[in-house]
Amino acid sequence: MSQKHQTLGEFIIEHQSSFKYTSGELSRLINSIRLAAKVVNYEVNKAGLVDILGTAGETNIQGEHQQKLDVYANEKFIQTLVNRNIVCGIASEEEDDFIAINSNDQNHQNKYIVLMDPLDGSSNIDVNVSVGTIFSIYRRVTPVGTPVQQDDFLQKGREQVAAGYIIYGTSTMLVYTTGDGVNGFTLNPAIGTFYLSHPQMQFPESGTIYSVNEGNYSHFPQGIKNYIKYCQKEEGDRPYTSRYIGSLVSDFHRNMIKGGIYLYPTSSKNPNGKLRLLYECNPMAFIAEQAHGNASDGHTRILDITPTELHQRVPFICGSKNMVHKVEEFMSAAASS
Ligand code: AHG
Ligand code: MN
Ligand code: MN
Repeated sequence: MSQKHQTLGEFIIEHQSSFKYTSGELSRLINSIRLAAKVVNYEVNKAGLVDILGTAGETNIQGEHQQKLDVYANEKFIQTLVNRNIVCGIASEEEDDFIAINSNDQNHQNKYIVLMDPLDGSSNIDVNVSVGTIFSIYRRVTPVGTPVQQDDFLQKGREQVAAGYIIYGTSTMLVYTTGDGVNGFTLNPAIGTFYLSHPQMQFPESGTIYSVNEGNYSHFPQGIKNYIKYCQKEEGDRPYTSRYIGSLVSDFHRNMIKGGIYLYPTSSKNPNGKLRLLYECNPMAFIAEQAHGNASDGHTRILDITPTELHQRVPFICGSKNMVHKVEEFMSAAASS
């Protein structure tokens, strides 16, 4: 089929045979995410119209105040995956522990687990700025037909079979990879169909945008401070442009299209960084690498980190390959000086 006007549904069917495991289960799973994305999109879009804003009065495990749309998106994605009987386990940034599905049913043959950040950039909801959803998919490592265990969720990022994000922005897009490049689909809201709009997305090798919360500057490690000074220096194609939306999905998406780097380093406020390895860093790192970009904690490839707990945080530096390498150079120079 020609790529012109290809829908996400058609794309999934056409590419099903290129998955490593071709049971059709992964296709059904991505289809379910597509469906939940449309439901959440509808709600996000009307957030300004109805009295849905504000906090839900609950606090998640990281001590953050949840806003209503976080709760809503979390419920919708979980409900869709559970009702369609498509996965054996789910872990979410908004849940204290992982959810085992049909754990007492030995005939339960589902092999996949999903980890997600149901609403990323939630502090932007009140001010009509883009937010997103991030998802990450693995095959379970424990035997099919038994209850899922924590080990199924604590896999290295390089074991992911698929990952993606939805960006609820000026238009709504679903961007994902199954390990064979990155493709972006834009929602036509009039008919509720995602169309392939950005085939084979790639980070430019270098870029001129850096995205970091510079308010934390004085708390950053010396290597990061030196890199920020380097970005600001007048030389060659520098100074770079600073752009920080405060929603990882949106900053990442812009940087992938234009060329740039996103940094959430350690700081004295966040000694391990702020972003969560399993729900944010691993899926974005997988997408970045599939789009010829790079993702690092400053020293180590994100996808090689061994997770030790579900809600683990790591420093995250992600974007155009040459820019990420430059940060690593600054980090090791500062460490050895
Ligand atoms: P979430 O809304 O899921 O908690 O994620 C917010 C994350 C990320 O999306 C964003 O880039 C970063 O936190 C912003 O943090 P600061 O406000 O500390 O810069
Ligand atoms: Mn997030
Ligand atoms: Mn979130």
